[in-house]
Amino acid sequence: MTDQSDSSNAALSAPMIVPVEAYLSPEYARAERDKLWTKVWQVACRVEELPEVGSFVTHEIADNSVIVIRTTEDEIKAFHNVCAHRGRRLIDVPPGERNASGRRSHFVCGYHGWTYNAQGENVLIPKQAHWQEQLAPECVSLRTVRSGQWGGWVWINLDPDAEALMDYLAPIPEMLDPFELQNMRCRWRKWGVFDCNWKVAMEAFNETYHVAQTHPEVSRYGDFAGWSRVHGYHSNIGYEAPKDMDQNQQAKLRVSDGPDPRVSTAEMQNFIWEKANTNTTQTLVDAANRLKDELPEGTPADQVLKHWLVSARAADEARGVVWPTVDPAHVAKSGTAWQVFPNFQIGHAVNNMLCYSARPYGNDPDKCIFEGSVYELYPQGEEPQPAWEFCGPTAEEWCFVLAQDFSNMAAVQQGMKSAGYAGNRINPYMERATANLHYNLARFMGTGAPKPYQYGE
Ligand code: FES
Ligand SMILES: [Fe+2]
Repeated sequence: MTDQSDSSNAALSAPMIVPVEAYLSPEYARAERDKLWTKVWQVACRVEELPEVGSFVTHEIADNSVIVIRTTEDEIKAFHNVCAHRGRRLIDVPPGERNASGRRSHFVCGYHGWTYNAQGENVLIPKQAHWQEQLAPECVSLRTVRSGQWGGWVWINLDPDAEALMDYLAPIPEMLDPFELQNMRCRWRKWGVFDCNWKVAMEAFNETYHVAQTHPEVSRYGDFAGWSRVHGYHSNIGYEAPKDMDQNQQAKLRVSDGPDPRVSTAEMQNFIWEKANTNTTQTLVDAANRLKDELPEGTPADQVLKHWLVSARAADEARGVVWPTVDPAHVAKSGTAWQVFPNFQIGHAVNNMLCYSARPYGNDPDKCIFEGSVYELYPQGEEPQPAWEFCGPTAEEWCFVLAQDFSNMAAVQQGMKSAGYAGNRINPYMERATANLHYNLARFMGTGAPKPYQYGE
């Protein structure tokens, strides 16, 4: 990693230009494997995907493949997915699938039959005597990859010398632990191969500046413009709090600004449920639809918000779903989403979350693997276990609102190649997360830092 200067909010608040190299250069894309993807902590899977000893999931990242496996009731470990004999991938990803998964007590290499147990130890080498006792157990077992858990995810890092997971993630655990993300379970999860760099895909979601133009239908329900703040490697975004409103209004669960907030909040909730299928739940939608019957006409917006959340919380509690209680000031400070460097976004609320991730597709700077998943709280025993669904970037396959975001991606990737384009002129207030992403990328890559510029440059 190259040396860093200041990446405070103040430093990244100046108008900055981000060069296009990081999005377009094949050399940069190839260098990411060794300088970035083998150095950073990244999400490999959810903990609940590994319910039993021997349950495993593979994580594929830029030429590397990692096996994440439950080795004992209390322990999850990660190993490089490669046979120590002649280098065959030990576990193949089935064609067309996002990753391999399953449950096994042993892994037998399909080439010559070297066999490993669920602890990664080599337990069988056919004709072992031929090696004249020169095979040390540590050389013929699977190589460990560093792993850790936070938020209900298993995180991995291919760098044996990387800093500890919790140090890397700070201050995100402190900010998001009150939301108890580890208790949420997936409602749907989808992935696809998109025609843009992974950064273009992530940057479609890390600011609220685009909402007014890209999502005109959403903007009918209020002003969704917001701030963006820098926290070391990471960033967060949130809405501006309208005057005289509870601070919760800055969070994901907010009322609509319409003339009758009882009605417009119900309309907004139904819109999000049907047209985005993201940051709401059936309970919240039902509670919003009851507002008109439960509150008198003229109820002020902050009272509508309070009543809606109390009523939805009670309805969930009645079916055994208990939301965490988070101090409103903390909700406001935590905002609507966190950008975990380099390629994970958590859009959190007290009872649901929406996550995005994007990573390279081979070494091609013009393509990426994009993933989205939505989580909520379920009564015990009623949690669905949806498979990863492969989807094209369409409204039919992802829903209307997300397809609006996707519609900019390939066009941005192409547009940035124009000879008449100088680089991204980042909004210093609303798009600071993008400036921070490139600031931190440059620390790993040694190139591509956002540059301040003068009027006329
Ligand atoms: S490469 Fe795995 S047993 Fe030979
Ligand atoms: Fe969007």
